[in-house]
Order: sequence, then C-alpha cells, then structure tokens
Amino acid sequence: MNNRRPLIAGNWKMYKTCSEASETARHLVKLVADAKDVDIMIAPQFTALAPVSEVVKGSLVSLGGQNLFWEKEGAYTGEISAEMLIDAGCSHVIIGHSERRQYFGETDNTVNKKINSAIKGQLIPVFCVGETEKERESKDTFSVLDKQITKGLESFSSDQLEKLVVAYEPVWAIGTGKTATSDQAQEVHQFLRSMLEKIFGDSFSKTIRILYGGSVKPENIAELMAMPDIDGALVGGASLDAETFSKIVLFKTK
Ligand code: 13P
Repeated sequence: MNNRRPLIAGNWKMYKTCSEASETARHLVKLVADAKDVDIMIAPQFTALAPVSEVVKGSLVSLGGQNLFWEKEGAYTGEISAEMLIDAGCSHVIIGHSERRQYFGETDNTVNKKINSAIKGQLIPVFCVGETEKERESKDTFSVLDKQITKGLESFSSDQLEKLVVAYEPVWAIGTGKTATSDQAQEVHQFLRSMLEKIFGDSFSKTIRILYGGSVKPENIAELMAMPDIDGALVGGASLDAETFSKIVLFKTK
C-alpha cells in the first residue's frame, strides 16, 4: 500500500461551449459531492474556464488548463500564461499532451519550459508522456519514455517538482477504445517510477502520482487502479458526460 491520493482528471479537449461545459460541471459537482478520498480535476477549453470556475467554486472539483505558454504576458498571439490560467480559476495544467506534440509542434524542450512556468506560477503540472503504436511495435517504448522524462524534467530539483503529476498516455490507446491492459500499464508505470527514483530519489518517486490515460471508462477503472503504481486516470472521451465520469471518480463505491 502507498499513501498517494488518487487523482481522476477529465480532459475535455476541444469540446463543449461555455454553457455546455458549465452544465456538465454543475451536474458533476452534485454527483461527486461525497467523493472525499479522491482528487478530481476537469480541464475544459479556454473560453469555458472562467464560467466553469464559478460553477465548481467551493466544490471538490478542481479546474485545469489544457496547455499554457511560458511567458508571463506579451505579444504572443493566441497564447495564454500560467498567471492567466490562475486568474481564470485553475489549479492544474496539462502539459505535453500527445495531441499537442503531434499537431502543434510541442517538443520535450517546450514541455520543459512549460513545466517551469507552471511551477513558478504555482500551477500543478500534469505532465503527459507516451509512446506511439509504431514505437511500441519496434520495442522503443522505454527509450521513448526515458527521453521524454529526462528532457521534460531536465534541470529541476525534486523540491521544485513536489506537486508534479505524471500521466502515462500510450498514444495508440487514446480515443481508440484500445486500453492498455492493466499489466501493460503497470509495467510502464513501474518503469516511470524507477526512472523518477534514479533522477530525484526514493522518497520523491514514492510520493509522485502517475496517472494512466487512454480509453479509461467505468468498466476498466477498478482494474487499472488495483495496480500498485497507477495512482489515477486522465480521461478524455468518458469525461465529457458527467454521469459516466462520476462513475470513474466513484469507482471504489460501485
Ligand atoms: P480517451 O480517454 O478519449 O482515450 O483520451 C485520453 C486522453 O487523451 C486524455 O488526455
């Protein structure tokens, strides 16, 4: 047993208008009102952050951004800073999601800068790593993750990363309905934890939460969470519906 508190996070990606997001959040807040043993976070798209923050205020649901830029402010058209996310009510921010790496040119280097600005701005970074199907097939999973972790967390101290959350999201399992088996996920989570131990030490690696993401649903959450190194989930599709997401949050009480 460990004493890491589970975190169930919903990544709403580019879905939902402000009113749809507020409505889902309102419903979710009610459904999870008694979920005291788990941290809950939702990450709506940017324009919905401020209205949703009004809805979740005083509830057990925290708010996260899906991305940020590392400068505080300036002539950076289309970007948003850590300070602005906090101003909109966020406590968390997702960084380095595979969709950002794939479609928006995010690299280990930009991910590193973004983690730095999140920490400085007092946001909890949810740092995503994961291999593609091709990389898994060519048995490069561990070397790919090694590079993403080493470069993404380069030059930070364990104290700076105290609140870090790592999310393992195999790209081949995102939105495909293909979940990694709980054994496949555990194998990687164990590897990630051992890497964190090597870089930042034993006590750090024992306290850091590592989430699994990729086709998580109410039907597979219990099996995943039973694994010793899986500390929660980053949920895409199944987080868009409040009832379904609440079943994942409340998996223990099923
Ligand atoms: P799905 O749960 O839709 O597979 O998405 C996972 C994800 O990308 C969460 O960030």
